[in-house]
Amino acid sequence: MRFTSRLLAGLMASSLPLVAAYAQTTASAEDLQATRAVSAELLKTLSGKLQESMKANGPAGSIPVCKTIAPQIALGLADKTGWKITRVGTRVRNVDMGTPNVWQHKALAHLNADLKSGAKPETLEWSEVVMENGKPTLHYAKAIVLQTQCVACHGTAEQLAPGVADKLKVEYPHDQATGYAPGQLRGAVVISRPL
Ligand code: HEC
Repeated sequence: MRFTSRLLAGLMASSLPLVAAYAQTTASAEDLQATRAVSAELLKTLSGKLQESMKANGPAGSIPVCKTIAPQIALGLADKTGWKITRVGTRVRNVDMGTPNVWQHKALAHLNADLKSGAKPETLEWSEVVMENGKPTLHYAKAIVLQTQCVACHGTAEQLAPGVADKLKVEYPHDQATGYAPGQLRGAVVISRPL
């Protein structure tokens, strides 16, 4: 008995630093799942609005959905959760909102490599826990892979739907987000949240 408790005490003492290090580098399955669910909600809501508008207004008439409604959905979810939520691009259309920071850039590179080695787009994600101001923060990125219907606004010059190129020139003079092919990594939903 005495031996067991001494052994236990010894084990606990030696594993404590391990536990602390572990807490700093990984998120719990629950935290990860909750984060994943919010990114999925963003993508689902946006995709619903975009599909609806594409049917009713065509591609050129749907640019406002991506310009105004996409950031609104992200902001709404950010308000609800208290987390930072946005979309970033591998090549960027909205320079202010879509340009990846250093961590996001790294995440996109990981996602791209995984995609090229055969990862399924639906489940492709990358995350890391980073200490920020002494607190563990989860940085999470969910891959956004180009689909066929996206080429109307993100494809080659020949694939862009009528009127889209002209509108993009006016609204996004520095646009780099054309020339994508279906299956390529277009960007990611990125979330930063305290744990
Ligand atoms: C109707 C035209 C249109 C369609 C269709 C469209 N997009 Fe976009 N996309 C835009 C516009 C406009 C922006 C810039 C939004 C903004 O101002 O934040 C954008 C921005 C993005 C961004 C954010 C990064 C950036 O470059 O600013 C991603 C990621 C993205 N689109 C992915 C997709 C994917 C994936 C599809 C297909 C499922 C798609 N888009 C379909 C017009 C479109």
